[in-house]
Amino acid sequence: MNKIISKERFSEKVFKFEIEAPLIAKSRKAGHFVIVRVGEKGERMPLTIAGSDVKKGTITLVVQEVGLSSTRLCELNEGDYITDVVGPLGQATHIEKFGTVVCAGGGVGVAPMLPIVQALKAVGNRVITVLAGRNKDLIILEKEMRESSDEVIIMTDDGSYGRKGLVTEGVEEVIKREKVDKCFAIGPAIMMKFVCLLTKKYEIPTDVSLNTIMVDGTGMCGACRITVGGKTKFVCVDGPEFDGHQVNFDEMLKRMGAFKNIEREEMHKLES
Ligand code: FES
Repeated sequence: MNKIISKERFSEKVFKFEIEAPLIAKSRKAGHFVIVRVGEKGERMPLTIAGSDVKKGTITLVVQEVGLSSTRLCELNEGDYITDVVGPLGQATHIEKFGTVVCAGGGVGVAPMLPIVQALKAVGNRVITVLAGRNKDLIILEKEMRESSDEVIIMTDDGSYGRKGLVTEGVEEVIKREKVDKCFAIGPAIMMKFVCLLTKKYEIPTDVSLNTIMVDGTGMCGACRITVGGKTKFVCVDGPEFDGHQVNFDEMLKRMGAFKNIEREEMHKLES
């Protein structure tokens, strides 16, 4: 059982949790994730660690209510306990001095991007961060990103904040303006797909962090299976980060879509 130390509302459906997990706080690196379960029969939900405080023994998770499990988690409050938090899992982000790096974060994907931006900056990269969301309310962690980036570009679908347009437009503007050596993209699968199509055109190596369905988190069950460069990979043990130009996003989107109906039925049961 892991205690919730604090809970903060970022927007209508996005919450930041600080959770007691001293061992994870000590050993986690950028890119690592945890698997969280609410209730004995709860579904296992992978969440990338957005930060940690070793002194306090806490980790930070940013959660968006999108389905049954995330809604259950977001219903919990300060002082409540999460049934279990397992991690750190996955491979840490490969960080080196690339030169100029563009980090594109969409929606709640901005949270796992934060430790990557901080780590890239710490080794001397020039970091340009593009934050994107449907509207102003969905732009999160702007202050923290500004503290660790050389420049922050904000894009909203409806133009309610920053500039009106898609994340890809912000990324392309930078590519056209200066030499970009590396790109990181984290957000909805469809967003990562389009960032990768763009950077492939300009031949800029791009890493993405995938958030698939996971069950055991140990490479045994196959739930998180994807195809990268024609080979089967497991997001939980081989990832969550991969060379975005090699990921078969269409297959991944199809598999994720297959679970949507079951999820919708469960949500109805919860609401009724
Ligand atoms: Fe089971 Fe990755 S979650 S193999």
